[in-house]
Amino acid sequence: MAWRGIIFDLDGVICFTDQYHYQAWKELADRENIYFDEAVNNRLRGISRMDSLEIILERSRKSYTDREKEALAEWKNRRYRELLGNMTERDLPEEVRTTLDGLRAKGCKLAIGSSSKNAKFILSRIGLAGCFDAVSDGTDITRSKPDPEVFLKAAERLELEPSECLVVEDALAGIDAAVAGGFGSAGLGEAAGHPQVTCPLKSIRDLLQVL
Ligand code: BG6
Ligand code: MG
Repeated sequence: MAWRGIIFDLDGVICFTDQYHYQAWKELADRENIYFDEAVNNRLRGISRMDSLEIILERSRKSYTDREKEALAEWKNRRYRELLGNMTERDLPEEVRTTLDGLRAKGCKLAIGSSSKNAKFILSRIGLAGCFDAVSDGTDITRSKPDPEVFLKAAERLELEPSECLVVEDALAGIDAAVAGGFGSAGLGEAAGHPQVTCPLKSIRDLLQVL
């Protein structure tokens, strides 16, 4: 299949912000005396900020009002953005840069499809602002992955049909979203083991062989 568009998830695919999400959620959970570990963190991949908070609060004995939940999510985001402030162009992995260049040279259109409301900030920190033909992110959608909304918006902005686009994901919820939207999918890490993934990848560089 000659994919005309490639839609990349951001966190865990283009750059490794996972550690900062983990740290900020862990600090929040500790402040609230809620148990939180890597296994809980793995369930947050691809999931919106408020939905992630709901997953964390499953372990809490206290119940929170909507207002309190908003305040917790805001606290986490402030701390997360402080940590993102440490990121520079050096945090863009070399294999990601060369893969993006190689795909562009093959004539593919490139987009971001991320649940994050911080996507544009992160892209600017790692020197990729203006590098994609389209960016669709958490500020454009009302339903987060596994709903396909963020990828459908990216395809629309690329002026391509979902069937012409390959979604690159590290999250199971992201592959579910790609399948639900009628996209091809390429999976990294845990997502490579998804039963419906089109192309399991060992490294993002493998995309240059798939295309
Ligand atoms: C996704 C991450 O990309 O963005 C999730 O995988 C995160 O872990 C989600 O919760 C929302 O991010 P943000 O930056 O809007 O809080
Ligand atoms: Mg991800």
